[in-house]
Amino acid sequence: MVTIKSKKEIEYMKEACKVVAKMYQEIEKKIKPGMTTWEIDQIAEKIMKDLGAIPAEKGYNPGIKGIPPYPASTCISINDEVIHGVPSKNKIIKDGDIVSIDTVALKNGYNGDAARTFMIGNVAKDAKRLVEVTKQAFFEGIKYAKPGYRIGDISNAIGEYVKSQGYSVVREFQGHGIGKAMHEDPGIPNYGKAGRGIRLEPGMTLAIEPMVIQGKPNILELDDGWTIITEDGSLSAHYENTILITEKEPEILTIL
Ligand code: MF3
Ligand code: CO
Repeated sequence: MVTIKSKKEIEYMKEACKVVAKMYQEIEKKIKPGMTTWEIDQIAEKIMKDLGAIPAEKGYNPGIKGIPPYPASTCISINDEVIHGVPSKNKIIKDGDIVSIDTVALKNGYNGDAARTFMIGNVAKDAKRLVEVTKQAFFEGIKYAKPGYRIGDISNAIGEYVKSQGYSVVREFQGHGIGKAMHEDPGIPNYGKAGRGIRLEPGMTLAIEPMVIQGKPNILELDDGWTIITEDGSLSAHYENTILITEKEPEILTIL
């Protein structure tokens, strides 16, 4: 069911989203070569807690048989890791890496969800272009995030833009509605036909999240039950914001 948020609920959503935005501002300043992804997770968790939020990914149970509850407060995916990289004391960030962090903060019962891909030190030109295209794909998508358009218009804009840049979108994972639950209807694929899907209405809150691969779209899941990597070993980037559909332009809630 797609939920339309009331004025009060929108205020709560904004608060949760602001926590995520502030957290990324801090992480951007702190993330350095030599740090482990576990250290970054600890820092992100503390920032969210200090801002009165609960890191919603910790203990998140997808309800799939054999998949353990998620063990950390962030997903941190390096280079060929696409999403859901599990923070670890053994994973050290190096100069030249691209590091995607995806985090959800829960505050007053509402969730805010965003992802960023950070470029560490001297990043190769092609990796930089991948990160920029992934971010731009989000902005191409939200050109259609307003009444008069449908979910498929957003999906199509993202998918066509990424394809036009010579990259692939991930097909097995998608954006989503968000509110009291981290994942609500509708699902928002990063590809598809324009003019399809539900109509957008003011009061909808959506997490739009292009996941882009430099090479072929195929992915693999590691034995930890979480980490998703590219099959061909090429790089992948992720960019996500929670947005609010209004009468006019969408509001991006996870950017300050
Ligand atoms: N934040 C992710 C999303 O964009 C979900 C992460 S799964 C979790 O939907 F287990 F880490 F929570
Ligand atoms: Co999301």
